[in-house]
Amino acid sequence: MTRILGISGSLRAGSFNTALLRAAQEVASGDITLELATLHGIPLYDGDAESRDGEPEAVAALKRQVLASDGVLLCTPEYNNGVPGVFKNAIDWLSRTSPVGDIPSVFGGRPFALMGASPGGFGTILSQAHWLPVLKTLGVRLWSGEKLLVSRAGQAFDGDGRLVDARVREQLAAFLAGFAAYALR
Ligand code: FNR
Repeated sequence: MTRILGISGSLRAGSFNTALLRAAQEVASGDITLELATLHGIPLYDGDAESRDGEPEAVAALKRQVLASDGVLLCTPEYNNGVPGVFKNAIDWLSRTSPVGDIPSVFGGRPFALMGASPGGFGTILSQAHWLPVLKTLGVRLWSGEKLLVSRAGQAFDGDGRLVDARVREQLAAFLAGFAAYALR
């Protein structure tokens, strides 16, 4: 059994990136479990609030989910050719030392992968590239075996957020299987 944690970098109910993770749950083969994590409830990082109140419960909960996983799949939107602030903010919180864990335990050597969806033509290629120095700094083991860049997401998903593009579905299944195999190594 390989336990993958999928984190969507969007808070939108109708998010293409969250929908892509839901589709990944549908195509996951029998020995892969894909749990979805949310960024809802994670406050903006504020060092004063951290000194005063410690780690927010939503951050501690997400950290526990990461620690319980064999690998983390970041599903990133692209904002202004870069990483959305809410997503980076959550990862910044996770990088802070707390009773739950510190950088080496949460990130160090942990398998990570990146994918993303965008209504535009480039499928989050630039935001995925922007994640690279961050993940390198945190010391994750980044899987770069395949790419998953879902462009024209408005056509790949139907109005209910179901992935209806058969080619992307196939790519997604192969991507997830490849990452799960890497996470087990
Ligand atoms: C965007 N969007 C966007 N798309 C893209 O492909 N490249 C970009 O640089 C940007 N920039 C951008 C900035 C801001 C502030 C917003 C709000 C949006 C569009 C974006 O891909 C689209 O809103 C997606 O639907 C966001 O992902 P979710 O919420 O559907 O997962």
